[in-house]
Amino acid sequence: MAAHPRPVAVVTGASSGIGTEFARRFAARGYDLVLVARRRDRLDALADELATSHAATSTVVVADLADPDGPAQVAREVAAHGLLVDALVNSAGFGTYGPFVDEDPARVAAEIQVNVTALTLLSRLLLPDLVASRRGILVNVASTAGYQPGPWFAVYAATKAYVLSLTEALWAEHRGSRLRVLALSPGPAETEFFDAAGTDRFRIGQVMTVPQIVDVAFRTLDRRTPPPSVITGLRNRVTAGAARLAPTRLTLRVASRLAGD
Ligand SMILES: NC(=O)c1ccc[n+]([C@@H]2O[C@H](COP(=O)([O-])OP(=O)(O)OC[C@H]3O[C@@H](n4cnc5c(N)ncnc54)[C@H](OP(=O)(O)O)[C@@H]3O)[C@@H](O)[C@H]2O)c1
Repeated sequence: MAAHPRPVAVVTGASSGIGTEFARRFAARGYDLVLVARRRDRLDALADELATSHAATSTVVVADLADPDGPAQVAREVAAHGLLVDALVNSAGFGTYGPFVDEDPARVAAEIQVNVTALTLLSRLLLPDLVASRRGILVNVASTAGYQPGPWFAVYAATKAYVLSLTEALWAEHRGSRLRVLALSPGPAETEFFDAAGTDRFRIGQVMTVPQIVDVAFRTLDRRTPPPSVITGLRNRVTAGAARLAPTRLTLRVASRLAGD
């Protein structure tokens, strides 16, 4: 009898932080990986590590998800390797701090392209595989920043509100099927995120380690009926809930005071 092929997980943003940790956890669970980001050296090193530690085979896809062809390129490379995808984690993303009026328009466009457009298109392109899988998983990494407007990181917070909305809607569209869809909203974590953002001014909320954050994701996915979204950390959950219930002016005043200067 032919051996069952190993399941395959595609992870964007696999070269750093939360994406790297997701790749490690899937490898530990017996998955092969498709590792997506721009930095090939990081992805090659991770592929070697996963082969050694978990006998996982990784396909490295060097793609710039700010490029409008990025998601289609990933899908083409997945198909060219004859892979059927069982899990997709969209973790690639970045933020920018500062007054919107001063933001570089090209960086604004790239932020929306990576955080919103690429995440959406890659979800769409790989969803048929995920639906066909006996154990399909779609995790989109949102943020506690998506639960209220974010003065001084307005675009970032808006992109994460979109990720949350899209992902929760997809959860409902696939409710009752085998596919598990989850919006994961971490609070601040020690990754390269704040280097990329050029500041730690919006390191707001309960800081958790990357392994703790990814633990929450897998514990949630392992539930018999996983919810559409999860916020990591009790304090972050309480804050996000309060921000949603409070009058908008109050939420904005508090958010401004925490993030503004
Ligand atoms: N750290 C936090 O405090 C925090 C909190 C809430 C939510 N999040 C979210 O968590 C996700 C992961 O962030 P992280 O904390 O792990 O940050 P990170 O360490 O900076 O990792 C970001 C990842 O995104 C990839 N990426 C960025 N721009 C890209 C592009 N144009 N094309 C392809 N890949 C790109 C990076 O890879 P390359 O540079 O190699 O391309 C890297 O692998 C993001 O969506 C972020 O918004 C983070």
